[in-house]
Amino acid sequence: MMPGAAEVEANYDRLAPLYEADMGQSMAFDDAGWYLAQLQDVSGRVLELGCGSGRITRRLAAAGLGVMGIDRSAGMLAASAPRTWPALRADIAALPFVNGSFDAVLLPYSLATYCLDEETLARVLGKCRRVLRPGGRLLADLFVPRPLPLDGQWRLDYERQTAGGTLTRWKRLLPGDLPASRRIERRYRLAGNPGVHEWTSRESIRPWTAREFEEACVELGFIIALRAADFGRPGQDPCFRSWVFRRETKRSRAPEATRT
Ligand SMILES: C[S@@+](CC[C@H](N)C(=O)[O-])C[C@H]1O[C@@H](n2cnc3c(N)ncnc32)[C@H](O)[C@@H]1O
Repeated sequence: MMPGAAEVEANYDRLAPLYEADMGQSMAFDDAGWYLAQLQDVSGRVLELGCGSGRITRRLAAAGLGVMGIDRSAGMLAASAPRTWPALRADIAALPFVNGSFDAVLLPYSLATYCLDEETLARVLGKCRRVLRPGGRLLADLFVPRPLPLDGQWRLDYERQTAGGTLTRWKRLLPGDLPASRRIERRYRLAGNPGVHEWTSRESIRPWTAREFEEACVELGFIIALRAADFGRPGQDPCFRSWVFRRETKRSRAPEATRT
């Protein structure tokens, strides 16, 4: 199991009924549209890692792609029902699929930041490589790391109206236990009927730089085919980087990467 995975799973199990109102609404870009555009010419099988409530998977399935998802959180998978695509409870560090069985693998919504050290990142990327056919695509995105204060101060993220009542979230950041890692604590308050519910989630992340991530992918035998900022809609100070990598075939030579 990946370091920290049990804690992350418990957080998502708790959050699952509210995920679409929480992180599902916090994505400021059409990431699902970007992933779909990169898969236009794919006719085979597509695997989404950390598919959660199906925010992206649903779009891909509706477009006719042969997509399936995996996720550790039973709660998040339950939140994706009813669904028209297969989904499996599994860890991204142990993909239960035969070698070369997918044409594309997605690692979306900065999922790689749950790989807390180089060894775990390499293990996950190695599994992606194993289940991709030669020439298959790895599609991924990452938050751009920001120099945020690790001062333990709670800051308001948002207050939103949901079907269950008013959801308010505060966040604070602390230094992590591992090099370059951070602890993120999110305090939630749902005020509705019946009553008020409050809980706090705690997890560790490793905010990889674009360069670190690219180097890890290249080391594992991927070729950079496309780089994008903010899913092709870059502003002044991009929040996300995303990539299309190709799994090397024996005769592959690295093409020049393009930037959108
Ligand atoms: C931010 S959510 C993204 C969900 C969905 N891909 C989306 O974009 O809305 C991250 C998801 O990854 C899952 N996850 C985190 N660590 C995982 C692991 N080690 N193995 C499998 N799933 C994991 C969580 O349970 C959660 O559903």
